[in-house]
Amino acid sequence: MCGIVGYVGHRDVAGFLLEGLHRLEYRGYDSAGIAVLQNDEIKVRKKAGRVQELSSELDSNPVQSSIGIGHTRWATHGEATNENSHPHIGGNGEVVLVHNGVIENYIDLRNQLQGLGFVFKSQTDSEVIAHLLAHHLQEQVKLGEDASTKETCLKALELTTRKLNGTYGIVAMFKECSNTIICARAGSPLVIGIGKDEYFLGSDSSPLIGYTEDVVYLSDYEIAILSSDGMEIIHRDSGHQSPSIQTLKQVSADSDLGDFEHYMLKEIYEQPQSIENAMRGRLDEDEATAKFGGLNIDPQQLRKIDRIVLTACGTSWHAGLVGEYLLEEFARIPTEVEYASELRYRNPPMTDNTMVFTITQSGETADTLAAMRECKRKGHPTLAICNVVGSTIAREADGGIYLHAGPEIGVASTKAFTSQVTVLTLLALYLGRMRHLSQPAGSRIIQQLKEIPDIIRKTLKCHEAVKDISERYCHYENFLYLGRLYNFPVALEGALKLKEISYSHAEGYPAAEMKQGPIALVDEKTPSVFIVPRGNIYPKVLSNLEEIKARKGPVIAIACEGDTRIEQLADDVIYVPDVEDYLQPLVTSIPLQFLSYHIALLRGCNVDRPRNLAKSVTVE
Ligand code: F6R
Repeated sequence: MCGIVGYVGHRDVAGFLLEGLHRLEYRGYDSAGIAVLQNDEIKVRKKAGRVQELSSELDSNPVQSSIGIGHTRWATHGEATNENSHPHIGGNGEVVLVHNGVIENYIDLRNQLQGLGFVFKSQTDSEVIAHLLAHHLQEQVKLGEDASTKETCLKALELTTRKLNGTYGIVAMFKECSNTIICARAGSPLVIGIGKDEYFLGSDSSPLIGYTEDVVYLSDYEIAILSSDGMEIIHRDSGHQSPSIQTLKQVSADSDLGDFEHYMLKEIYEQPQSIENAMRGRLDEDEATAKFGGLNIDPQQLRKIDRIVLTACGTSWHAGLVGEYLLEEFARIPTEVEYASELRYRNPPMTDNTMVFTITQSGETADTLAAMRECKRKGHPTLAICNVVGSTIAREADGGIYLHAGPEIGVASTKAFTSQVTVLTLLALYLGRMRHLSQPAGSRIIQQLKEIPDIIRKTLKCHEAVKDISERYCHYENFLYLGRLYNFPVALEGALKLKEISYSHAEGYPAAEMKQGPIALVDEKTPSVFIVPRGNIYPKVLSNLEEIKARKGPVIAIACEGDTRIEQLADDVIYVPDVEDYLQPLVTSIPLQFLSYHIALLRGCNVDRPRNLAKSVTVE
């Protein structure tokens, strides 16, 4: 994961680096650091903790330069300490670098380098790259090369990357080679922004926004040299490349908290609007179907699809499960939902007409990207349901559907989930209308969808009730989340939300399945959150609920307004509006978002920046 930023030009670099690191903090917030070349000396400032800590460090210990690199870390190898923070210095201080990715052969390399006398200060895999780079630079110098030339530094980095197994985005500076940054990538993204006599660098485009619109996305095995003389890009095998300059699509980053205390709460409240945005311009009432601008695939081909694979991670995978139910119900296309981390290494049989959809908020999740690339390599059309415009997955997919949910900053995904479910509903309607779904059925769905933003506004009114209930349940350590059919993925999602931000243990299960084992966990100390709206199998879920009550398990029920029967069974009830079964996830997920939010607050947790997590998981 980790965020990388860099700059060479004429500005005072520290301000740009710090601002960039703040924008990249969603990729990790275990530590932050920068390095600059100041009067031909490498100066490093780094601190465990948030970028804010680094900022305070820089206030008391400032640097002055117009060339520098920076890093915000999500720890993979070694704890979140000052020593393990990037940038890392190599050798005798000849080089300094930041790294994003994972070096799989770092132990072997470390042993070899220690044998050569290199002294390690950290437990990271990244420090290995720094010493290896210094080693190759020293070797070049022994061969008579000049350490102050770009060519020598490039050669050293090229030799270094050839020894690395794993993934990397590396940005390095060299003590002797003033005014030059050299970067390389394999598997971890790097974006170069081109300004007037200046270059900007980021592990994604967010640090570049507002500085330049001309960008180059570095490809795997490319190395870029950025200096006051210009930019060169060299591919490891095919030599010099002419850069393909693209225009950065800038989205307005509404990252202001407004009156809200946390981004998570703000984003929960944004859902009427984000769901509306996901539908805007996509409902075709005349044809009783949905329409999409960017699928880039002709209807003939879509008609031939005989199987859909939805692949994603985490919350997006839960949205995929809802999508499976929707696509099979409305379009009658067999649908599989695959964890991207599994799919990338599996080799499931896929028919010629299998269509692959990746679902991702960030568009940067490493496993999702790798799974998509693997399917694309096999020749399947790959489409992305994605929120972040211009993200790696959005760029590499053959086509797709944007969520238009706006920036999601809270680490726990909320509005992206409901937007993903909304888009999947539209997709099921669209593919359904190409097949078995009649015009009246399509029209009915459209009318129901149009009412959803208002229904979500009404659902948000459960907030106060959930807050009260949270006070009674915040001390419990274990929860079960139970639902059936469309509400089974919601149960999984509710349990994930609670785990990730409150650190209470929670398991999501299909409500009937809990009899096959998990019911052994039920006692008066293990509450069950039952999602039991009216609908096709309401009585069945009620029976499951009674089974829990018979074993003294406390029950919080998410039920439909006007349901009086539930009050006699559950200990606490949260009421939500009554909607058709297929729309229930949009409604029932909302009280569960509030529940995790309030339980986390009451337990004193950092809701927007939970421990051990990052907004975007860019390592596998
Ligand atoms: C949980 C959460 C994660 C993400 C997962 C995939 O609240 O946010 O589980 O859903 O990391 O991320 P994206 O959707 O960006 O690919």
